[in-house]
Amino acid sequence: MLARKITVSDFRNIAHAEVSFEEGINVLCGDNAQGKTNLLEAIYFASIGKSFRGNHTNEMIRFGQKEALLSLDFRTGGREQSISLCLGGGRVRAAEKNRVKIRRMSEIVGSFRAVLFCPEHLSLIKEGPAERRQFLDIAISAAEPLYMGALQRYNRILKQRNALIKAAEKDKALFETTVDIWSRQLAHEGAYIAKSRQRYVKNAEGYMKECFKEMTGSREEPSLLYLGVGGKDFDGYEDLSKTEEMLYQKLSQNHERELGAGATLWGTHKDDVEVLLNGHAARSFCSQGQQRSLALALKIAEGELCKIDCGEYPVLLFDDVLSELDRGRREYLLKHIKGKQVIMTTCEKEGFDADHLIVVKNGTYRKAE
Ligand SMILES: Nc1ncnc2c1ncn2[C@@H]1O[C@H](COP(=O)(O)OP(=O)(O)OP(=O)(O)O)[C@@H](O)[C@H]1O
Ligand SMILES: [Mg+2]
Repeated sequence: MLARKITVSDFRNIAHAEVSFEEGINVLCGDNAQGKTNLLEAIYFASIGKSFRGNHTNEMIRFGQKEALLSLDFRTGGREQSISLCLGGGRVRAAEKNRVKIRRMSEIVGSFRAVLFCPEHLSLIKEGPAERRQFLDIAISAAEPLYMGALQRYNRILKQRNALIKAAEKDKALFETTVDIWSRQLAHEGAYIAKSRQRYVKNAEGYMKECFKEMTGSREEPSLLYLGVGGKDFDGYEDLSKTEEMLYQKLSQNHERELGAGATLWGTHKDDVEVLLNGHAARSFCSQGQQRSLALALKIAEGELCKIDCGEYPVLLFDDVLSELDRGRREYLLKHIKGKQVIMTTCEKEGFDADHLIVVKNGTYRKAE
């Protein structure tokens, strides 16, 4: 995967910019608040169809303007391709892939494969399960179009089932006659989601272990554990019908508890991934640098899994990745990214060899000679 060029208009603080990238390490260098992260956000938007900052689409449009345009040229599978998006009115207003109009964003997601690492990803280790589920959903959706469909259906069914539980206060008979249909459907989609998540976590763990072995000389060993609806000890996720039945049983045997709570209490919307370092919960026991290394290793694993899936290494987008890493960890990272295309941001250009340096100033991007 090779990002060639991004053209951006009225996106964040960028009035208009055309920025070309080369193979190897591209560095966006500039002071704070100049537009380094904004450009990475624009590139990643073309990959996942939304902002990684979780902002509303309107917040990305430059102050005082009505729409923003993004257009990314990239190379994949030996072909030059492009994605163009117009953001406006709180959504992606129009989209094109290879100059052909696209109606659904799901047709774009996964075309341009990139892995993003940014300081906010520390929340993958530090915060609650929602962040980790979102990480899994983005990573697996890019690789498995069926997963994205299952997830969308699951969320729709969950919404309906929750609405039914809430309405049961007034209409218990309706609840009792229809809940089973939703429980069946939820269990069906949930089993598929659980299988994909469990498999992804297992594969990612293998790469994280390798990464830490090199990075810390085997002093630190991470583990990842998928905590799905069957809890720690259930290992039947590969068998869809087994998981489906287990989830269905939970959903059909605990109606009173769910009515009391006013929501669906079992399913993949409650999943988590336990992250451990040397057997201890990373969230409570790791130093800041260790947490950062874990998040980074998870991203490196994402890149490796993406390569297995699509045959090409994704473009690595690193926002302020080197701060807080000691020399050994920095050296490992710089060695690891050799030969891959990286677009990274930094305030200081010292400390590593950039193949291509781009100076960022007030929403403008100039190639350094
Ligand atoms: N919708 C918008 N319209 C105009 N400017 C915006 C918009 N959204 C954000 N900005 C501005 O963009 C500027 C640059 O943001 P960005 O996050 O890219 O900085 P940065 O170069 O990554 O800085 P740092 O080194 O601090 O991370 C900020 O000052 C921010 O206020
Ligand atoms: Mg930034």
